[in-house]
Amino acid sequence: CGIIGYVSGGTVETDVIDVLMDGLSGLEYRGYDSAGVAVANSTISVQKREGDISALEAALSDRTVGGAAGIGHTRWSTHGPPSDGNAHPHTDEDDRVAVVHNGIIENYRSLRDELEANGYVFESDTDTEVVPHLIADALDAGAGVEEAFRRAVDRLDGSYAIAAVYSGSETVYAARQSSPLVLGVGDDGHFLASDVPAFIEYTDRVIYLDDGEFATIDSTNIVVTERDGTVVDTSIETIEWDAEDAGKSGYDHYMLKEIHEQPTAVRQCLHERVTELERRIDVEALEMLSVPTQVQFVACGTSYHAALYGVRLLRDRGVPATAFLASEYDAGSTPVGDETLVVGVTQSGETADTMGALRGANSAGATTIAVTNVVGSSAARECDHVMYVRAGPEIGVAATKTFVSQQIALVLLASELTGEYDDDLAAALRDLPGQLQTVLDDSSAREIATEYRGADAYFFIGRGYNAPVSLEGALKMKEITYKHAEGFAAGELKHGPLALVTDRTPVFALVTGGSNPTKTIGNVKEVETRGAPIVAVTDGSADAGRHADHVLEIPATHPAIAPVLGNVQLQLVSYWVANELGRSIDKPRNLAKSVTVE
Ligand code: G6P
Repeated sequence: CGIIGYVSGGTVETDVIDVLMDGLSGLEYRGYDSAGVAVANSTISVQKREGDISALEAALSDRTVGGAAGIGHTRWSTHGPPSDGNAHPHTDEDDRVAVVHNGIIENYRSLRDELEANGYVFESDTDTEVVPHLIADALDAGAGVEEAFRRAVDRLDGSYAIAAVYSGSETVYAARQSSPLVLGVGDDGHFLASDVPAFIEYTDRVIYLDDGEFATIDSTNIVVTERDGTVVDTSIETIEWDAEDAGKSGYDHYMLKEIHEQPTAVRQCLHERVTELERRIDVEALEMLSVPTQVQFVACGTSYHAALYGVRLLRDRGVPATAFLASEYDAGSTPVGDETLVVGVTQSGETADTMGALRGANSAGATTIAVTNVVGSSAARECDHVMYVRAGPEIGVAATKTFVSQQIALVLLASELTGEYDDDLAAALRDLPGQLQTVLDDSSAREIATEYRGADAYFFIGRGYNAPVSLEGALKMKEITYKHAEGFAAGELKHGPLALVTDRTPVFALVTGGSNPTKTIGNVKEVETRGAPIVAVTDGSADAGRHADHVLEIPATHPAIAPVLGNVQLQLVSYWVANELGRSIDKPRNLAKSVTVE
């Protein structure tokens, strides 16, 4: 879910609803099954609708609501199906307060029972609705508006970013616990949101709220306080992206734009970390880390595939390493000690499964590091160390440039941890942005996508460094085309999946130098005899083109970097298949970019 809040400064003629709607557009990637806004003046006006924000826009077209303070929400359902009633904001019975919330209130059932027993009537199935009723209860007991907000929040267990407005007040009240919330310091009024793209077109000056903090935002001031009311001395940071970065820059989809941003993303990740002259990899933040006796990665989805790639990098350098799906990680039953480094790989830094695993690892005494794209994210705060992948904002739900940046960050991390500075690898990294550009310019992925858009299923195979990318190729295809796709370590195909192979299931084979290309060609032959069309993603190793119906070429490079290039070809194939099928590429059905529930 995503939340936005705005209090107008009153000196410029700004329509609060317009600002809220812009904010919701910038946050839609966080969820989009329903949306709503509330604006406060002497009363509170609420509009909310099931569906994406165009439904809300239509409902607001004949609006007469106005006011200086407002909040908005775009929802990804956790409690209760998408509906007008379950959409946020939620209000108390007398419309004294309206509330938006991101996260999960774990004790909502008992709070709801208690409130219902006291006569409060609920209108939705959501956990959130307990909040306005708790606030109403505190108001009835004589609390002032700020005190009522604090008392309500104090009753909540779980994760939340909450914002509230009151009738008769031009202030937004907010609180954060384990869900992101950032404040925007504007020239004419102030903002709050789950993430910066919501208000970047208005201001680039931000204050990150910490867990347990409250914020009071009015037309001239932002005051941040701790739970006990102590005022926090905040610092304002400047965001380096501009509004242009957060838009599509002329591409049809964010995903295509983000695929094309990969050379830049890699340059940013490498910046000042690989010294041109000395070709030395230097990750300043990690100097204090000694070589761990073992490394455990925890991650989900695409980030898990980056973690599998990281495992291979470390094992190649003699460090025992394992990757866990974060939802399956149990620090209690997985041996963890002082000498264990647990690496949380998470684009958003907010994934609940990954956060849970990192908290477990921290309590078990491991040293933790977050490899994340979002500065100040929950993972960055939770871990002992942080390494930013610096991909820039990624809006498309399917991760593309953040995956490449994670791969590169893990190459740097593995080198830095082990002190193994391989000259050839450093040279390959330096050449990588240019080679990525070559792949983007010359790829024939679109023609291949046109030819195979009607396939029954798509299979992806690769060995060694290419194995995680075969999984990622399949995940991308599933996410955005809704077609059946599977990735396998090439050697596994013959142990079962081969039964699925027919002349209607193209097989994409990653065949590159240093990752056992000859053996992979052996596996290619197994599918060839079953009549499957073969697309080789190759640098020419093992003469792969001779065994394939089509070739997606990549330039020759270091064995560990070849899969980074091969992955881009697979991203493009998935994108063009999805495009031909008319799919909702940036917002695939049922998926959200940042999943903050376990
Ligand atoms: C969601 C997204 C995936 C992503 C996964 C992990 O499921 O749809 O694209 O890979 O979360 O996200 P993270 O932010 O932790 O990398």
